[in-house]
Amino acid sequence: MLAELFAADAGAPRDRSPLTRRLIEDAAEDLRRGGVTTKIMAGSQRDRDGTMPGLRFAGAVHRLVLEGRAPGLAKHYPSVGGQPDLETLWEDALPVLNEHADLLRQRISATTVQTNEPARSAPLYGGLMVAAQEAAKAAGRTVPFCVRLLEVGASGGLNLRPHHVGYRLDDGTVLGDPGSVLVFDPQWTGRPPADLSHRLRVVGRAGCDLTPVDVSTEDGRLHLTSFVWADQVDRLNRLRDALDLAATDPVKVDCSAGPEWLAKQLARSERDVLTVVWHSVVWQYVSPADRAMGRAVLADAAAKATPTTPLALLVFESRRSDDAEEGYRFELLLKLWPAGLSFNLGYGSGHGAPFTWNVTPWE
Ligand SMILES: C[S@@+](CC[C@H](N)C(=O)[O-])C[C@H]1O[C@@H](n2cnc3c(N)ncnc32)[C@H](O)[C@@H]1O
Repeated sequence: MLAELFAADAGAPRDRSPLTRRLIEDAAEDLRRGGVTTKIMAGSQRDRDGTMPGLRFAGAVHRLVLEGRAPGLAKHYPSVGGQPDLETLWEDALPVLNEHADLLRQRISATTVQTNEPARSAPLYGGLMVAAQEAAKAAGRTVPFCVRLLEVGASGGLNLRPHHVGYRLDDGTVLGDPGSVLVFDPQWTGRPPADLSHRLRVVGRAGCDLTPVDVSTEDGRLHLTSFVWADQVDRLNRLRDALDLAATDPVKVDCSAGPEWLAKQLARSERDVLTVVWHSVVWQYVSPADRAMGRAVLADAAAKATPTTPLALLVFESRRSDDAEEGYRFELLLKLWPAGLSFNLGYGSGHGAPFTWNVTPWE
């Protein structure tokens, strides 16, 4: 079962990270043979589809490399200046896996995939612009609402400052904050259906996670870095800049399961502020019980939303799609209450860029 999950997980990096793909494929083979990976994954027998044990394995191995504990393997890792040789990767990985099997098992069984990807701030930024303006229109206002952002599954909270990031578009325009330490190309096709000359005003931010990462510590920064595929140097650079930005604008991520936390946050609303519940690449990890409870909490808050205290749900999550090669794709969905509006705003890479703005009704 685990070997099959690993084989499926190897599809996530595909051609975007040949190093990660090959490591997970070789590990799947090793699991079938009952090799050292079986011992390493012994704490993860209850894994199911969506919990990505292969990516947790790759992340834990990457962390050993980043910590300097795997000198024989480091030569394959561009994150520490190496160059992958896929033919010799597994043979160089084996001594490291044998030496650190207990530590790897402990780390892998104690964590979920913690890819806190700052590029997801780009669809979030565009989605917030649309939400603030559509909610205002529905309430008969000319000025977009200020936003209170509530993020479930925020990990290290790197997407809790979308207004402090710069988004450099292909025509040279920079949306958001052009002076930010984090400026990147969101690789947009099309544009959000909103007046982008308005400023996004974020007046409140909060986040929770089952296992929050404290990015003010070296341990937290290493943890997030380990989940970036080691041959994706652009993403590593973007993460470094996002961590620098977080250091100048800290936001604490509360340690809590989503539904309980959300219920507390939504118990109060602020007049003339749009409350936005946001989550990205979290839903697949949430248990069926938590999903049901999360839906109920949101439905309760939606029923109480008013034109002066509106509520939005904005999510960037994977959904089944006949159009996508892999059978699913990551879509940006928006619901607004009490306006009763629902949009599918577009779709993109799971890491947030590239992204195509393409508005259709959200069924
Ligand atoms: C792949 S990460 C995505 C992090 C972040 N949302 C992003 O887009 O960069 C998934 C996160 O969801 C969190 N998570 C999973 N189930 C959760 C739950 N029931 N309540 C809160 N957080 C949860 C995990 O701990 C992990 O940090």
